[in-house]
Amino acid sequence: MATAPVLDTTPDTRRPPLPHGCTFDAEDWYVLGRFWYPVALVRDVAEKPIGTKLLDQPLVVYRSGGEVVVATDVCPHRGVPLSMGTQADDTVVCPYHGLRFGAGGKCVHVPAHPARDIPARLNLRTFPAIERYGLIWTCLDPVGEAPAPGDIPDMPHWDEDGFQQITCPSTDIAGFAGRQLEGFLDVAHFAFVHTETFADPDNAEVPAYSPKRTDYGFEAEYWSSVGNYPIGVSQRGVPGFQWLRHFRCHLPFTATLEIHFPGSDRLVIMNAASPVSARMTRLFAPIARNFDTDLPVQDVYDFNQRIFDEDKIIVEAQMPEWLPLDPGDEGHIPADMSSMTYRRGLKALGLKRFFGY
Ligand code: FES
Ligand SMILES: [Fe+2]
Repeated sequence: MATAPVLDTTPDTRRPPLPHGCTFDAEDWYVLGRFWYPVALVRDVAEKPIGTKLLDQPLVVYRSGGEVVVATDVCPHRGVPLSMGTQADDTVVCPYHGLRFGAGGKCVHVPAHPARDIPARLNLRTFPAIERYGLIWTCLDPVGEAPAPGDIPDMPHWDEDGFQQITCPSTDIAGFAGRQLEGFLDVAHFAFVHTETFADPDNAEVPAYSPKRTDYGFEAEYWSSVGNYPIGVSQRGVPGFQWLRHFRCHLPFTATLEIHFPGSDRLVIMNAASPVSARMTRLFAPIARNFDTDLPVQDVYDFNQRIFDEDKIIVEAQMPEWLPLDPGDEGHIPADMSSMTYRRGLKALGLKRFFGY
């Protein structure tokens, strides 16, 4: 006689719980949850706790002494977001009953029972918090094969003498991080999308280039005559100069672009697309440069914001909203070598369809 199948109710202890209302497909969420993403600017973590989201997980970011804490943005007492609270004496204070949480997310004070021991159940669930490039980076699924801090994408020249470090304010895009990052790697759109900022509408042709796979994703060296000076700047157009754009793509959603200006001038931009949810991306952009280092950083913020805004219009309009990984789902042109390599790399991570079918 056949026996009835036994329902396996053993809890999966390796995997963290999916966030409430998760907008990603579960399997893809677990792949994406293994990587490091920025969630705040270091300079913004100051007098008030910051509420944010990463992969649909609500997070609170606050300071306790010299330490930055990243924790679930839910008070373990009665579920109020701690980002609605205040920062006091190296703790974050819940606005409902005044519980206080300090280093490591530990509950250190219960005003209704100041003399009693505090149960561990009142501690916050925390995630690693690492400061790099003026940003706080975290990882939601450090269980099991936890990524090491070294897995935070590398930014060329950031720590080098002579380079100025500029962390642009973040910008929000109502679109998928994969679409945004792919746009950052795309060299065929300059002459159509960026003509108000740096590109030349009469220079649309894309010379051949060959991406190379690396352990973190891939890199591509792209040579062309498309300049990178702001439109209207007097030295724009150095006759015969071939610009080198060196892209390094760190799967899944971060890339750096190192631009070689005439002489030894270098500009590096990191495009770190932090997936707030499936259809919302917070773009963080640290920049390093070894020229104009005495000019106001506000000019850099403003110029780059204009470029991000030009791209944002496109990314927010693309359909489907996710990034199709099946090569048959969209048409391709030779200029899309980076895009094709990017999509293959995402597929190799085990990612499938992200969301939205
Ligand atoms: S809900 Fe936070 S202290 Fe009660
Ligand atoms: Fe662009």
